[in-house]
Amino acid sequence: MNSFNNINRVLVVDDEPVVRNGIDRILRNRGISSVLAANGSEALSLLAHSRFDLVLLDIRMEDMDGIQVLKEIRVKHPDTRVIMITGYPTIDTAVQCIKLGALDYLVKPFRIDDLEVAINKIKPTDTVSKKSIVNKFGLKIESSKHLIVGQSPPMKEIFDKILRVAPTDSTVLITGESGTGKELVARAIHVNSNRSHKEFVAVDCSSLVETLLESELFGHVKGSFTGAIHTKHGLFELANHGTFFFDEISNLSLTTQAKLLRVIQEREFMKVGDQKKIKLDIRIISASNKDLHDSIKAGTFREDLYYRLSVVPIHLPPLRERKEDIPLLIDHFLNQFSQKIKKPIPEVSPEAIEILKEYAWPGNVRELKHIIERILVLEDTDVIRASNLPAYISQRQGEFQIFSEELLSLEELEKKYIRFVLQRTRGKKTLAAKILGINRKTLGLKIKRYNLS
Ligand SMILES: Nc1ncnc2c1ncn2[C@@H]1O[C@H](COP(=O)(O)OP(=O)(O)OP(=O)(O)O)[C@@H](O)[C@H]1O
Ligand SMILES: [Mg+2]
Repeated sequence: MNSFNNINRVLVVDDEPVVRNGIDRILRNRGISSVLAANGSEALSLLAHSRFDLVLLDIRMEDMDGIQVLKEIRVKHPDTRVIMITGYPTIDTAVQCIKLGALDYLVKPFRIDDLEVAINKIKPTDTVSKKSIVNKFGLKIESSKHLIVGQSPPMKEIFDKILRVAPTDSTVLITGESGTGKELVARAIHVNSNRSHKEFVAVDCSSLVETLLESELFGHVKGSFTGAIHTKHGLFELANHGTFFFDEISNLSLTTQAKLLRVIQEREFMKVGDQKKIKLDIRIISASNKDLHDSIKAGTFREDLYYRLSVVPIHLPPLRERKEDIPLLIDHFLNQFSQKIKKPIPEVSPEAIEILKEYAWPGNVRELKHIIERILVLEDTDVIRASNLPAYISQRQGEFQIFSEELLSLEELEKKYIRFVLQRTRGKKTLAAKILGINRKTLGLKIKRYNLS
C-alpha cells in the first residue's frame, strides 16, 4: 500500500451520505479502512477514542462547521492530520484552513486522482501541529509537547523577544534557574527562524567527555587517533545551516572555550586529523543556569566568548516570580498527562491551587510538571484537593510567617491566617472560629469570600 503513504485508517466527516459513501468506496478500493461520521460532534467523539492517520473534513455542516471542528482537533489532537473538503471553495476559507493547520484543501466533487495526490503529498512528519501550532502570542511551536505556557507579563515579554530575535542570526544566551524552560525557548527560537527546516542540534556541555569533545563537535578522519576507526561527522557538520544549542555552557573547559571562540570568529573548522577547512554556517544558542558573570570573575569562563555568545540575552524568571502562570501550567500538564495515561481530567480545588501558588518551586516548571504527573498517577480522584498534594508542599503552609519577604495587605493576611488556623484545626470551624475570636457565621462568610473551603 505504499502508493497510499502508510495511511491506513481514515476518518471521513461529511453530512452528505453520498459523499461519505463515495469516499469510503475509493478508500476501500485502495485497501484503506475508513470510519464515517455525519457531523462534527460525532467526529470529535470518534477522535477521542481512536487513532486515525488522517481526517477528511467537510467544511459546511449543520451542527458545527468544519473550521470549528478543525480548531477543536488542533487543541485536542494536535498530531492528527487533516485535509479539508468543500463544495464551496473560497480563497479566504482555504487560507484560513491552512493557517489552522489543515494539510490540504480539496474541492468537491474531486476525482480519485486528486485525493490520491493529496494523500501522497503527506510526509510522515506532517501533523497539524508540525504545520502550524501557534500559541496565542503568535509563537510557532514544533508540537504540543513543546508548548510554552504562560501569560504573565515577563512571559509575554519573552514571547515577544523570541519572535523578534528568531529571524536574525544573532547568538542568544538563555539564562535562568534549572527547570525554567530554557531548552523550550531555544527550540522555539529555532522553529520561528528561517533555519527551521534545518537541524536543531543540542549538546549538553556537562555530559561531553573532554577528551572526545573535539571529535564530537568537529568530527574526525579515520586513523586520526587510536579508536578513530571510521571517519566521523561532527555535530557542527550535522547542524550546518541550522541551529546549534550549547546547553549548560558554563561547563565547557577553558581549552574548549578557546577552540569554540576561534570557530565562531573564523566561521570554519577542521575535522580532527584533517587539513581541509569546512565552512560553518550555524546559529548558536546557549543556555546556563549559572550566572556567567560569576564564572568570568572566578576565571572559569572567558569574557570574550561570553560577549560573542550573549548578543541577545534572554532571562527566564523563576516560577515563584510569575505565580499567575501556575494555574495555566497546572491545566496544561493535567491535560497532557490525562491524555497520556487515559484518565479523565480532574478538577483542582481552589484551595489546592492557592497552596500550589504559594509554594516556592525551587525546581521551577519541571518540578510542577513532575508533581502533577505524580498526583495523576497515584491519586484516583475527580477533584485534586489540598490533601492530595505532597506533604512537603502542603506542610509549608504550617509555618505561618507574618513577616515573610513579601508584604501583604490586611485582607491577604487575614486570608492566609484563616487558612492557617483552619489547617491547624483540621477544618473544624467551631474551634477555628473560637481561636480567631469571631463567630462561626462570620467565619463561614469569610471562608466563602476567600474561597477557602
Ligand atoms: N512555560 C512552560 N510551559 C510548558 N512547559 C514548560 C514550561 N517551562 C518549562 N516547561 C517544561 O518543564 C521542563 C523543564 O524545561 P526545560 O528543560 O526547558 O528547562 P531548563 O531551563 O532547560 O532546565 P535545566 O536548567 O535543568 O536544563 C520540560 O519538561 C518543559 O517541557
Ligand atoms: Mg535544560
